[in-house]
Amino acid sequence: MPKRTRILAVGTALPDKVLTNHDLEEMVETSDEWIVKRTGIRERRICSYETMMSNSGASELGARASTVAIERAGLSVDDIDGIICATFTPDNFFPSTACSISRLLGRDNVLAFDLSAACAGFVYGCTVANALITTGQCRTILLVGSEIISKSLDWSDRTTCILFGDGAGAVVLQGTDDEERGIIGTHVSSTGSLGDILTLPAWGQKRYMSMNGNEVYKHAVRMMSDATLKCLESCGLSCDDIDLIIPHQANRRIITALARQLGVPIERVVINIERYGNTSSASIPLALDDAWKDGRIREGCRVLFTSLGGGITIGSAMVRF
Ligand code: UT7
Repeated sequence: MPKRTRILAVGTALPDKVLTNHDLEEMVETSDEWIVKRTGIRERRICSYETMMSNSGASELGARASTVAIERAGLSVDDIDGIICATFTPDNFFPSTACSISRLLGRDNVLAFDLSAACAGFVYGCTVANALITTGQCRTILLVGSEIISKSLDWSDRTTCILFGDGAGAVVLQGTDDEERGIIGTHVSSTGSLGDILTLPAWGQKRYMSMNGNEVYKHAVRMMSDATLKCLESCGLSCDDIDLIIPHQANRRIITALARQLGVPIERVVINIERYGNTSSASIPLALDDAWKDGRIREGCRVLFTSLGGGITIGSAMVRF
């Protein structure tokens, strides 16, 4: 059995269309100033109207991100034996987005399923993929976070529509015997009793996201920092051992408060929310891609992923590159 699971590479894909805060000023009663001050977001990517109205999008973006990740890992699609897609905006209930990605990649005979943990989906996915790989059930897994959140928004509700964007990120995970590298530990959990503060119904007339932003905000820093401390404890590490934090990008103020609470200097935190908004399960791989491209992911560095999403779900993962 492999001792650990390494992240070999990351790939991303984004829709071309940019929706700026100024564009939103034309749609709802809001302002660039309010959005930047309260969230840190300046613009986000949005799929085309045709995609928004269709039952496609998440699999196409996910497959594009996957193709980049596989190529950067120096592998071929035949090396992949598992596909996990974390998404709350699947193209269909079935076939799953993961199965559609496998079809687009031309790879049958793989384990493939969608994972529903909202914005914590990527960290949940790391946990599940790590378990499948280190128990010998898969060798190389494609973990994809792909979201077309624009489909789930009420575009007349200024409390939600200004926050989110569409996008996808994928990582290639593979088993290794090197005990020093890879996913060192994870902690995932949920608090179902807080489920009402962030919802997206699957059925009924009002199939839009709704959020009690203040309530989510109130719990976010405490719960992500709890998950992080538990994750670190499981690895026998402390906050001083974190070289880089890649947090879910929901709000710049939440991210800075989290860094302060953990005692990690803000220079060691990856923030790209200004360009993409909140892309849910795609936000961590999108930020990882930025950090990898600008040289912040170095051999041996210890990177902490942490996130919170609807459910309420939380998760942190410590990875040594
Ligand atoms: O990834 C899933 C997890 N989601 C999150 O982590 C989101 C967590 N929550 C947040 O990020 C913040 O709560 C928000 C960004 C959603 C809201 O920021 P806030 O500082 O908590 O603002 P607020 O909800 O307390 O609203 C302040 C004021 C209100 O007006 P009054 O009552 O003070 O007159 C709102 O009606 O701002 C108003 N407001 C807006 N104004 C302009 C709310 N949305 C907007 C808007 N533009 N888009």
